[in-house]
Amino acid sequence: MKRARVGVLVSGRGSNMMALIDAAQSADFPAEIAVVISNRPDALALETATERGVPAVCVDHKVFDTRELFEQQLDRALRADRIDIICLAGFMRILSPWFVGQWEGRILNIHPSLLPSFPGLDTHKRALDAGVKFHGCTVHLVTRELDRGPIIDQAAIAVRPDDTPDTLAARVLTAEHELYPACLAKVARERINASEDEQAGRSEAG
Ligand code: GRF
Repeated sequence: MKRARVGVLVSGRGSNMMALIDAAQSADFPAEIAVVISNRPDALALETATERGVPAVCVDHKVFDTRELFEQQLDRALRADRIDIICLAGFMRILSPWFVGQWEGRILNIHPSLLPSFPGLDTHKRALDAGVKFHGCTVHLVTRELDRGPIIDQAAIAVRPDDTPDTLAARVLTAEHELYPACLAKVARERINASEDEQAGRSEAG
């Protein structure tokens, strides 16, 4: 089976990255995690990926004078690895319209709220402050507008009366670890099917 090549961008802990790596171990998962890239040299995710045998590199944004130069290097690294799909997994840099344009329709992000509610940071505290009864996480395509791209899927969880931002975050995180691999599989399968259809069309035409 042809598998999509995925680059995971991280900045920290990397528990979603691990969920993607674990899912991709299965032979019938339609994507492989080809590389993990962190913008921070001290990200725990780099260590964890390496331990799991996944190539992990740092493109440290601090060594570049501008965001453009940082993103050009990121773009080069991803192309060198023949990446088809990018998964942002706790990647704490905002990507410019240029970068998003280069990878249009091919960047996924996981966000810890039921978008369009609570875009941005501090989502669990804001959800509790707002008194919502349901909270959760969203996987969406990345577009130029932060946390506003087309939604691929969501997982909802009930908020408990005694929840704190930490208890809520922990339950949402468990849901994230199921949702992200499922969404990646869906997008990868669609991509593979589209490219097979295109090839079949070309050979019919030729
Ligand atoms: C997750 O809550 C994710 O939704 C958000 O950043 C956090 C990353 O956690 N985008 P981890 O690094 O995957 O553990």
